[in-house]
Amino acid sequence: MNWNTLLARSYVPYSGRHEACVVEGKSGTYYAGVRIENIAFPDTISAIQVALFTCMSENDKPVKLILRNNANKDHDLVNFWQDEYNLTVTVEDTLPEFTLFQKKYPLRSDINKLMEDLLDQAVVPNSDFPVSALIETYDGFISGVNMECSEWRLGLCAERMAIAKAVTMGYEIFDGIHIHTKYGEYSSPCGACRQVIIEHLPDKPVHLYHADKTHSIHSSSHLLPNSFQSKKLKKLIIE
Ligand code: THU
Repeated sequence: MNWNTLLARSYVPYSGRHEACVVEGKSGTYYAGVRIENIAFPDTISAIQVALFTCMSENDKPVKLILRNNANKDHDLVNFWQDEYNLTVTVEDTLPEFTLFQKKYPLRSDINKLMEDLLDQAVVPNSDFPVSALIETYDGFISGVNMECSEWRLGLCAERMAIAKAVTMGYEIFDGIHIHTKYGEYSSPCGACRQVIIEHLPDKPVHLYHADKTHSIHSSSHLLPNSFQSKKLKKLIIE
């Protein structure tokens, strides 16, 4: 894995500013993250959030944050994350040789059981409300769980974690998303997730697995009708 491959995976059609980072876990495993912009500014996901939260959702402890340059120091809140997890931060022009963590589940998996099991990976010190999600690609499911930290604004929902991990792994086309909450009377994605889902899964099925074991299927465009979009806004600049 090298910086250029990783940077090319970032989804930055609005600013054209490619960003990526790598987090080393205490286990010696490396977790990547890329920046994923959203047409609604604050729903943009930073590379650091993706890499750190992927590490922590695997029950690993982040110890080192590797950045490509100092450019993202301020807007990606590097100092906040450094203090939050007591990280060593380094800036490296060339990535060391390592294998990136990339987990996928077979398409023939028992989805109900998998989503139930995944709930244990959520890090929810504030809400104690675990959520799991699976995003479907042509060759497997990629999971996400909700992640909370000391600053509520900087947590990420399960749906957005699944999308962010899949984009970081290089996937661009998705066939659907599955969402399960343990306690939600009716599992349903929040407004911010709907905004991110519509951008990466336009007109795709959203499968909701409710606490009472019932299941409903919706179209992403019905969950966010008449969503804000314009082709004029997409720049897709390649660095
Ligand atoms: N949450 C999700 O993971 N997905 C949603 O669509 C709604 C909310 C999480 C965020 C937070 O960790 C907890 O549920 C309570 O809001």
